Amino acid sequence: MKQYPQLILGLLCLVINAVAPFSADPRQVVVVTVETTTTTWTTTTLQVTALSPASSTTLAGSSPLVSETSSGNGDFEGTFLDLHNNERAEHGASNLTWSNTLAMIAQSWANNCTDTHSGGKFRLEGLPLGENIAAGTENYSIPDVMNDFIDGPSEKFNYNPLAPADSHWTQIVWKATSELGCGVATCLLFEPPFDGQEALFYVCEYFPPGNIEGKFDANVQP
Ligand SMILES: *[C@@H]1O[C@H](CO)[C@@H](O)[C@H](O)[C@H]1NC(C)=O
Ligand SMILES: *[C@@H]1O[C@H](CO)[C@@H](O)[C@H](O)[C@H]1NC(C)=O
Ligand SMILES: *[C@@H]1O[C@H](CO)[C@@H](O)[C@H](O)[C@H]1NC(C)=O
Repeated sequence: MKQYPQLILGLLCLVINAVAPFSADPRQVVVVTVETTTTTWTTTTLQVTALSPASSTTLAGSSPLVSETSSGNGDFEGTFLDLHNNERAEHGASNLTWSNTLAMIAQSWANNCTDTHSGGKFRLEGLPLGENIAAGTENYSIPDVMNDFIDGPSEKFNYNPLAPADSHWTQIVWKATSELGCGVATCLLFEPPFDGQEALFYVCEYFPPGNIEGKFDANVQP
């Protein structure tokens, strides 16, 4: 797989970022054990989208073998922010700001290389996080990811306000969400469609979380 300058630069930036964010953010970040996840998830009635984009319709197996990471880079952060905020502006939602705390969490989960959701493992101010994930091989870029999240088959154009369903897109435009942080890792994924190829595994965390049952009307403006 081809390595890109921004990914390598991101790796360097991550080291710098790794020291500060958790201590700089006065809010307490709680890492919940995987065991308690399911219970917590059910009782909060929060739903975080568990969809994969078209390019990775099947969840892939995990391998921490290859772990090359990127986050905290200006282009990385700016591109994710712009593409989120441009979409939000079209749906009456104010701009998100970048959170280094969320980016750290996203990066740590991306590094796990499971191509699955973190399933309530991370909490901020007592709440789970909203989370969008995507994986793709080779040149799977941030615009590709955002395009899958927004224009994918189960996303914006499939949204029915009369029967609201969660999607990557609904989290992106969710009005009450104000902070975003993303990370990406290069992973060796074994399940189809990857079948042992290296892929870029992207994770974006959102706070406060979106996709809350019963709150779609107030938060998602078609
Ligand atoms: C919102 O974000 C967009 C895209 O990043 C930017 O162009 C715009 O200036 C921002 N608006 C405000 C009010 O900050
Ligand atoms: C990575 O995932 C594995 C399998 O789900 C889990 O046991 C492990 O605790 C995770 N590690 C981190 C750092 O999240
Ligand atoms: C990925 O990008 C490189 C460099 O631009 C290009 O040579 C290669 O063909 C691309 N691969 C795919 C699968 O598009």
